[in-house]
Amino acid sequence: MKFFVDTADIAEITELNDTGLLDGVTTNPSLVAKTGKDFVATVKEICRLVKGPVSAEVTATDHETMLAEGRKLAGIATNIAVKVPLTMDGLKTCKVLSDDGIMVNVTLCFSPAQAILAAKAGASFISPFVGRLDDIGHDGMALIADIVQIYNNYSDFQTEVLVASIRHPMHVIEAAKLGADVCTVPPAVLKALVKHPLTDKGLDAFLADWKKTGQSILGGN
Ligand code: G3P
Repeated sequence: MKFFVDTADIAEITELNDTGLLDGVTTNPSLVAKTGKDFVATVKEICRLVKGPVSAEVTATDHETMLAEGRKLAGIATNIAVKVPLTMDGLKTCKVLSDDGIMVNVTLCFSPAQAILAAKAGASFISPFVGRLDDIGHDGMALIADIVQIYNNYSDFQTEVLVASIRHPMHVIEAAKLGADVCTVPPAVLKALVKHPLTDKGLDAFLADWKKTGQSILGGN
């Protein structure tokens, strides 16, 4: 399973990239707005830092302008995945950009039917939003199960299932159990994945016992 981080914050991306656990980055207009920084400059910097796919979203809603924006974003770096919304204009744009060899991430997916269309349009990634479905009393993970099953039925569907709108570690675990290709995880959730109270307790005990020996692995006292 691949891990992307869902943020446009350069400091957070740098910190997580240094762990060696990052396979890519996803941004969206809301995350960019939160930084208060210039969009194109920010995306350029992220692409310089991270080798894997970096999703940058178009903000137009009509096909022609989406395509122009998508091409401009794709020109920033070779690891850009142009993010388009799951609308008919977005799908049309996805098809043209994908045919040109540009990675496309189709976002705001809330149904298996929409995911089928994104795969037909040649998307590199489909982004189903699990947290936002859970928020309104639907089962976000059931959507992931449906999409994974459908995509597995057709070898010509090459689209990767990128689980988005992740809110907590259980979303990541459930997505992994279902065989989703990628989780895009907020920095706080990524950091929470490593935490276990028994790890902390066990380490404290090991270190206390080790101290009693008076030894040092690297020598000296
Ligand atoms: O990048 C898209 C997605 O992950 C949004 O998450 O928490 O705003 O629903 P959220």
